Amino acid sequence: MGERLVVVSNRVAGDRPPAGGLVFALHDCLTQMGGIWVGSGADLVEAPAPALRHAPADGYDRYLLDLTEDEQAQFYLGYSNSVLWPLCHGRTDLMQIKRGQYAGYRAVNARMADQMLDVLDPDDLIWIHDYHFLPLAEELRRRGVTNRIGFFLHIPFPAGHDIGALSQSDALMEWLGAYDLIGLQSERDVAQFIGTSRQHPGTEILMDGRVRMGNRLVAVRACPIGIDVAAFQGEIGTGEAVTLSKGEKLIVGVDRLDYSKGLPQRFDAMEHFLDTRTDADPTATFLQVAPISRGEVAAYQDIRQTLEQKAGAINGAHGTPNWMPIRYISQSMDRAELAGVFRQSAVGLVTPLIDGMNLVAKEYVAAQDPDDPGVLVLSRLAGAAEQMTDALQVNPYDPTDMGEAIRTALAMPLDERKARHARLLTGAVHEDIHWWTRTYLDQLRQVRAVPVFPLSA
Ligand code: G6P
Repeated sequence: MGERLVVVSNRVAGDRPPAGGLVFALHDCLTQMGGIWVGSGADLVEAPAPALRHAPADGYDRYLLDLTEDEQAQFYLGYSNSVLWPLCHGRTDLMQIKRGQYAGYRAVNARMADQMLDVLDPDDLIWIHDYHFLPLAEELRRRGVTNRIGFFLHIPFPAGHDIGALSQSDALMEWLGAYDLIGLQSERDVAQFIGTSRQHPGTEILMDGRVRMGNRLVAVRACPIGIDVAAFQGEIGTGEAVTLSKGEKLIVGVDRLDYSKGLPQRFDAMEHFLDTRTDADPTATFLQVAPISRGEVAAYQDIRQTLEQKAGAINGAHGTPNWMPIRYISQSMDRAELAGVFRQSAVGLVTPLIDGMNLVAKEYVAAQDPDDPGVLVLSRLAGAAEQMTDALQVNPYDPTDMGEAIRTALAMPLDERKARHARLLTGAVHEDIHWWTRTYLDQLRQVRAVPVFPLSA
């Protein structure tokens, strides 16, 4: 049997409304290449099943690990999203370490490895995604799997000093040592990884760029994820437009409701813009779409309350009977609607406090009319900022800086908008989802120039 791609990620496409760029990206990749996608199922079960559930999809196969309520609490809401997520986003203050989470996280990874053995072939190229399954390669290796195994971290690589906040602070680097290739979103993440490696005993950076981790050699590369530009553009025109009055401009932000997205600061930026408005500024309405995710985790409930209060206060202070400056909705919108709203808008605000990549920035550019494009205002702390240097880059912590960028964007002459957009679009087309998949997998195929030493027991 020839090479087959086996992708593993917690979320898979199809079973529930996808939130986040990862699911769209992997769906596009598997639709093009075929293979199998292993992930967790949408519905909780009473007791763990003895095998993965086969759920074929269009163009590829899916195998699902259905979680129990307990597993969901410890693995997904617990260790993944209350420990690893805040850690990787520099918010160790929001970490909630509770008994049982770590064991639950390890147990789901071990069960996934056990059950994957039934579907794996010796020539499979295994590609594991994101922080939910960091220990999976180590678990597979323990069970004798010698296939090439790659890992891609979609979120920022954590700072070395923050890793000390994990109760099992050596585990992260040990898990990573079982992969052949570690893919990260940006050069910033690679630098962070190297810094962390230097502090970790048993890890050594070699002259050829590989990293010796324990008794294995691992390659580490930045490989920024992209989007399927044509597919996203294909959505334009099929969704409903936002109703605006004559001359009114639309400013748009679309983010999963998350404390890493810088939403309170973005609302403050809008407030700064409104407070300092002059007759030269057009009437501009800010639409923030922020579908709720991980709603059971306390930190996510807090951010929701904060935003509702801010939106109310700003609308109360600046609104008129016929106009509200902020339209804030926590329902999700489908891709067609989003593509239409992006195209209709004059400004796209993508201002996370930190982000692995942020694919909304790329979708925003893809959706624009090249003859009359909107302006992307982008956080310099998003991974996307390394590639998208023609965006108006801002400090997401500074509402004044962002408020002034909104003003600059609204006033930007057509020639400058077109020139910036053309360069941004060229980049998004060149380094798109197919480029990402090809580049990563080509590297994964090449990296095993050295024998794999068996893991010590
Ligand atoms: C980010 C993560 C993904 C995750 C997505 C949505 O993009 O990198 O792994 O799937 O957020 O989060 P959720 O917890 O709703 O799956």
